[in-house]
Amino acid sequence: MEAAAIVLAAGAGTRMKSKKPKVVHEVLGKPLVRWVVDAAHEAGISRVATVVGHERQQVEPLVEADTDVVVQPERRGTADAVAVCAEALAGFDGSLVVLSGDCPLITADTIRRLVDMREQADAAVVVLTMELENPYGYGRIVRDRVGAVERIVEQKDANSAEAAICECNSGFYCFDARALFDALGQVDDDNAQGEFYLTDVLAICRAAGRPVLALPTDDPSECLGVNSRAQLAEATKFAQRRINAAHLAAGVTMTDPDQVWIGPDVVIEQDVELLPQTFLMGSTSVGEDSVIGPNSRLTDTVVGRGCTVDETVAVEALIDDGASCGPRAYLRPAAHLCEGAKAGTHVEIKKSTVGKGSKVPHLSYIGDTTIGEDVNIGAGSITCNYDGKKKWPTVIGDGAFVGSDTMMVAPVSIGAGAIIGAGSCITKDVAADALALTRPEQREISGWAAKKREQQAQG
Ligand code: UD1
Ligand code: CA
Repeated sequence: MEAAAIVLAAGAGTRMKSKKPKVVHEVLGKPLVRWVVDAAHEAGISRVATVVGHERQQVEPLVEADTDVVVQPERRGTADAVAVCAEALAGFDGSLVVLSGDCPLITADTIRRLVDMREQADAAVVVLTMELENPYGYGRIVRDRVGAVERIVEQKDANSAEAAICECNSGFYCFDARALFDALGQVDDDNAQGEFYLTDVLAICRAAGRPVLALPTDDPSECLGVNSRAQLAEATKFAQRRINAAHLAAGVTMTDPDQVWIGPDVVIEQDVELLPQTFLMGSTSVGEDSVIGPNSRLTDTVVGRGCTVDETVAVEALIDDGASCGPRAYLRPAAHLCEGAKAGTHVEIKKSTVGKGSKVPHLSYIGDTTIGEDVNIGAGSITCNYDGKKKWPTVIGDGAFVGSDTMMVAPVSIGAGAIIGAGSCITKDVAADALALTRPEQREISGWAAKKREQQAQG
């Protein structure tokens, strides 16, 4: 049967004390709401509606590409948030999963289990529950004498016997869509918070004679809701452990997994070694036998096989097989180190290609530049790509040798096999195989220094 999902993301998250709405805050580089939407997609649910409200202009761009965005004009409670999706889901008849946009650790596997359980039992609803030592704040699962789910009571509405129940509502459900929308009409706001509670749907369905079931989770951490910065840090810890454990199991070495942070969408091949204080974020991928770290931060960067990336910051860069960078390299967007190339220490590269086997070993800035194969760029050389208004390109041909401390004032090109004398300021194109140098002749006055010291000594 086809399944659809609703992600609730309209709340403000006052306890975050933030300008940003809660679901925009990130765990390992990915916004909370994206974790939830991606889990739904991974569970095979393509039709997803996201309910937005508070500061929605910050939330919408994160979800509009792959979900139907539904606006809840006023935050009148979780039942109201689901009800506003009626139009977006009109005609849908099947399993409807409701997920909280502030619970990033829910897994695709659990979502699938909720759907399977509901479909097998043809239940009106299956709620994911968790057993907590300290259930304070959560809705409690009230069961009847034979152990069937009777209703959910919210913390603020619970009497002392109900408050003593440790089985809690995780806030994740799979409903029979039709039964849900029928029941929503009967939900009222006659409760301690004056809100329309989605949780009331369970008692309504039970009264209508439809099965209402609970699926206890074996991992309460996947239901952790982020309501405060402390919980954001806690969720990050759980996510870090879960992700690192999967990479360790798949053949990745980490000297100290507590000091490695890997985003959920990062791909790492076998026999990669991750040293302490390494951050791999976004769509980064790392090929076999590469060593990353220590102290490295790669975002949306593709690293090939057998690379060494030491103390490097890279954003949207390409590092091909056998290339090396660092210590202390900064690869900015569209920096491309081809096979076996090197960006050494204190080297910054932006929107430039460093050809196969070429080297930029020390203290350089290379921007808007195309470097051919087997080029050597001497220490301290810089492409002057910016005239204060516009950026200009530099082209350096195969086999060229650029002496140390060369300024290449763009637009300029250096032909293949050319040699540039150290300390030159190159403002005109250099032909292939030529020598170019712009160096004032050296003067020498013999004995001058000794004489000077003598004068100083006499005062
Ligand atoms: C809810 C459940 C509670 C459960 C807990 C689990 C209800 C009434 N209670 O309580 O039983 O134990 O989650 O975490 O459902 N939202 C909207 N629009 C609204 C109200 C809420 O989009 O009008 C969104 C929030 O942004 C949030 C989610 O719904 O993502 C849950 O709402 P919240 O107010 O945090 O509910 P809880 O009090 O945590
Ligand atoms: Ca909550």
